[in-house]
Amino acid sequence: MSGRSILITGGAGFIGSHVVRRFVRTYPQYRIVNLDLLTYAGNLENLRDIEDAPNYTFIKADICDAEAVAKVFQEFAVDSVIHLAAESHVDRSITDPLAFVRTNVFGTVTLLNAAREAWAGAFEGKRFYHVSTDEVYGSLHDDGFFTEETPYDPQSPYSASKAASDHFVRAYGNTYGLPFVLSNCSNNYGSHHFPEKLIPLMINNIRQNKPLPVYGQGANVRDWLWVEDHAAAIDTIFHRGVNGETYNIGGHNEWKNIDLVKLLCAVMDRKLGRAEGTSEQLITYVKDRAGHDLRYAIDASKIERELGWRPSITFEEGLERTVDWYLANTEWLDHVTSGAYRDYYENQYTAR
Ligand code: NAD
Ligand code: TYD
Repeated sequence: MSGRSILITGGAGFIGSHVVRRFVRTYPQYRIVNLDLLTYAGNLENLRDIEDAPNYTFIKADICDAEAVAKVFQEFAVDSVIHLAAESHVDRSITDPLAFVRTNVFGTVTLLNAAREAWAGAFEGKRFYHVSTDEVYGSLHDDGFFTEETPYDPQSPYSASKAASDHFVRAYGNTYGLPFVLSNCSNNYGSHHFPEKLIPLMINNIRQNKPLPVYGQGANVRDWLWVEDHAAAIDTIFHRGVNGETYNIGGHNEWKNIDLVKLLCAVMDRKLGRAEGTSEQLITYVKDRAGHDLRYAIDASKIERELGWRPSITFEEGLERTVDWYLANTEWLDHVTSGAYRDYYENQYTAR
């Protein structure tokens, strides 16, 4: 696979930025083209450390814009896609479902069309990698795990739109022979995570002594994976995954929300030199999310068995690193919460 030209979509977001950084650094022989619209969730400050790398190019464009996408395929002779661009926040999907249909469904199909046209049936050596979520499988009760065979049963507008995009990818494989791989991952955490999601929101609020809003009773369970381990899994699947296959990725790491928030409070109290139990007092139970999925838990045995991937660090270690990163990068958090990060593109790219 020397000299690949890889289009990574959504590379300015949370997971995408980790994937871009990993590929740019690990594979200097690859050209990495990061196509991102820079919505509220896209932040080029996430990629400051690699933005001048000779094998990296950033393109500001919308995956729904067929012309712009076709141009990128042509200009960079794209032979592989790692597709992460999406609307990704469940709460936003409840208030604005159409935004999710547009980007996650229409955008994915636009990208599939571009790949199909650019590769024109000459599929040898080509690969379309679609990055998806475990939320497509719906909600578990107390027992069991999501396997690759679990029937789709999405429960939120977000997961319904991701499920639709997964179906389109498989349909393009079946109908046109497009070579694809797909992965469904559990909840990620780590650095550069937008503070609308549980873990960075809690870290940010604890830091500022603000209330910690726990939905419902805090009894919902999520399976947390360190984002760099997800990026490593994507690297593994991209290089060694079998065409047409799906791989579940997870951390074997289930936490009830309330227990996780309490753990974060304890870690933050220690790091900030606060007395034990101080931050827990900020916990505030708030109205539950509509249609709130009770439990997600991934059976990741297929990727472990077939591709030899497994998480590299424990949750305790990952949380320590994550909290340390946020405390060392309060400027990043302040830019994100104030909106100042949006100026970065103008300053960085138009002033050149
Ligand atoms: P994110 O919201 O942090 O980033 C999404 C990125 O996509 C942003 O940079 C945004 O600017 C870009 N984008 C949005 N709409 C676009 C458009 N129309 N055209 C081009 N770019 C656009 O998301 P994330 O958490 O990094 O998730 C990335 C992918 O991984 C998504 O497909 C998501 O469904 C999937 N996923 C996320 C998790 C998780 O825990 N965050 C878990 C499993 C799977
Ligand atoms: P989130 O990070 O939004 O991920 P997802 O909904 O995709 O799993 O939420 C993780 C869990 O935390 C979920 O059960 C909802 C809950 N939650 C809260 O209790 N309070 C919050 O402020 C947020 C954002 C989430």
